[in-house]
Amino acid sequence: EKGGYDHFMLKEIYEQPSAISDTYRGRIRVAEGIIKMAGIDDNLAKLLNAKRIIVIACGTSWHAGLVAEYIFEELVRIPVEVEYASEFRYRNPVIHQDDVVIAISQSGETADTMAAIKLAKERGAFVFGVCNVVGSSISRETHAGAYTHAGPEIGVASTKAFTTQITVLSLIALKLAERKGTISNSDFHYYLQELERVPEKVKIALESNEHIKLIADKYKDAKNFLYLGRGYNFPVALEGALKLKEISYIHAEGYPAAEMKHGPIALIDEQMPVVVIATKKGHYDKVVSNIQEIKSRKGKIIGIVTEGDETVKGLADHVIEIPETIEFLTPLLTTIPLQLLSYHIAVMLDKNVDQPRNLAKSVTVE
Ligand code: M6R
Repeated sequence: EKGGYDHFMLKEIYEQPSAISDTYRGRIRVAEGIIKMAGIDDNLAKLLNAKRIIVIACGTSWHAGLVAEYIFEELVRIPVEVEYASEFRYRNPVIHQDDVVIAISQSGETADTMAAIKLAKERGAFVFGVCNVVGSSISRETHAGAYTHAGPEIGVASTKAFTTQITVLSLIALKLAERKGTISNSDFHYYLQELERVPEKVKIALESNEHIKLIADKYKDAKNFLYLGRGYNFPVALEGALKLKEISYIHAEGYPAAEMKHGPIALIDEQMPVVVIATKKGHYDKVVSNIQEIKSRKGKIIGIVTEGDETVKGLADHVIEIPETIEFLTPLLTTIPLQLLSYHIAVMLDKNVDQPRNLAKSVTVE
């Protein structure tokens, strides 16, 4: 049932082109410029009038929430806060009637997320769910929702759930932005077209697999890794580090690239591999200067770059290319090489990739 792959995780990484298109198929009509999502359409006024969006989630789903924060604030101009469900639920949070809560959960069974939803509901917020498992507890507890149509995710390390969560959240943001008039009609059409091109581009990103395997082999014995990104790709850095930690047991940290000089730069020496997401657009020049800072401290640089990039290639020890897309969709592509890198390292270290120690697929206890 692994479809010829050695592990579910690898199968699920490779399923992403179809999982992403399954998530938007039936919901968008690109030629006509239409996004149809029942959960959104039926609650449009509530969503459009939201003074604030509060995202609650755990783990990888929380990272998808962070990406959504950047997307919503940029496209829809509604302030967004992203909360760990476990912190939110015990904090006596300030919640208003005109707040919209978005709860993100692959399994739809995460205990902390569930408790946070119940609290938000008690305090009068409208709660919208983004779940993968149809009919799951969270999908039933929320007022409305949209499923990610990723199909079953078996590997404990979340992969296709993450990219499909970002896909659904992008659709929601686009729909609201179009209605609110916070983006132009021509941008709206262009963004939809670009979204439709993502699955093909994910396929191209997957073609770097053999190259990534060589990089994995070089760094598999490292004791620590740093992952850096800015803007939309800061959460991707966090996600890349989480993936490596959970399946290879190598200590890894994700950081906003500019925060490095406020502490973590002290860690950098010739033993430290630093994965830097340095795609064109998205503060590219700033990231290039961050790369120079790492290089002058002899860190080993693995750059995730846009096809044809020359500048980072000249500085980094390795580069992995991804196709170009619009900035807010880059996380859907930059995530792919990071998933593959952690997968190959874990396999080379002979770890149990699909069922890492101490972890469960859904965390139903707090
Ligand atoms: O099912 P959920 O999305 O609610 O799960 C949340 C986290 O437990 C989950 O994303 C976890 O962090 C993954 N193992 C990460 O790969």
